[in-house]
Amino acid sequence: MTSFEHVTVMRDSATALLAAGSGTAYVDGTVGGGGHASQLLTMLPHARLVGIDRDPAALAAARERLAPFGDRVRLVQGNFRHLDAFLPPAWQPCAGVLLDLGVSSPQLDEDERGFSYHSDAVLDMRMDPESDRTAFRLVNMGDVAELTRVLREYGEERWASRIARFIAEARRRQPIRTTGQLVEVIKDAIPAAARRTGGHPARRTFQALRIWVNEELDALDEGLEAAGRLVGPGGRVVVLSFHSLEDRMVKRRFRAWADAERGTVLTRRPLVASPEEVEHNPRCHSAKLRAFEVAAQSQLAPAARSTHDYQGVNQRHGYGI
Ligand SMILES: C[S@@+](CC[C@H](N)C(=O)[O-])C[C@H]1O[C@@H](n2cnc3c(N)ncnc32)[C@H](O)[C@@H]1O
Repeated sequence: MTSFEHVTVMRDSATALLAAGSGTAYVDGTVGGGGHASQLLTMLPHARLVGIDRDPAALAAARERLAPFGDRVRLVQGNFRHLDAFLPPAWQPCAGVLLDLGVSSPQLDEDERGFSYHSDAVLDMRMDPESDRTAFRLVNMGDVAELTRVLREYGEERWASRIARFIAEARRRQPIRTTGQLVEVIKDAIPAAARRTGGHPARRTFQALRIWVNEELDALDEGLEAAGRLVGPGGRVVVLSFHSLEDRMVKRRFRAWADAERGTVLTRRPLVASPEEVEHNPRCHSAKLRAFEVAAQSQLAPAARSTHDYQGVNQRHGYGI
């Protein structure tokens, strides 16, 4: 048994929204431990699903969890920004796309991956271990202006330029190799009075680095665009986001589709987790769920289909099960 313990966030709301759309083929762009996927496949006995994840450890867990569904499931290692490269042509257009953004609990909890400011680990933060962007690279090699921009834009950190200057100062003495060293530099950079409010002083910097390392906002932008090409009439796009930058992007994209009369925003306000769910799983306190339904007679972007050729499930380290 793989030890991949991720508590699925807003499982019932997300899968009910997807299941109510028309069609049978689904794409889970962030299959993770397979929590949403297994629920959806259980609810819809005729549904089939392509599950994508950039993290091989997540895919291994999904493969195990989704094995009972046999050939109704195809799993592939890849980035959902190339969503349409992974959906077999015969499955297009699909009934729904799910994106449950961010990192999984195992990614946060595995110290050596460097996502957490609560433990001392090497500065990594890659979801895809083969990617060449690491937190170490930006922290030790990035120029101060770029570092400041990343912290300000992706972390919405008001002390961005001070933190960047303190990092530059510290790395002149010796490389900043670990999350623990970085936390100390951040604490020194933020004035004591400001450190007493707003949660852990490293939270925003770590969020910013993670977004940069994994190119999360570019991936979301392209993933939504690709979802627009793939979802057919009556189908749905459902997105769970965990911070305001992502949520804003989803909200704007859905509004633009609605303005272009391509369908309906199903969530005028985002759905959030119930107090009971937050109590049971504190990580979902910031979750926001938004859903869009493609109009019955239209497809979101029929003129712009398939910028990527279908690469098949064996592309890179694809896992068919
Ligand atoms: C919150 S978890 C998903 C959990 C899953 N819904 C479940 O219930 O088990 C997010 C997953 O998305 C993956 N991920 C994040 N960004 C990605 C991207 N751009 N492309 C593919 N996978 C991505 C992460 O590696 C992680 O495994």
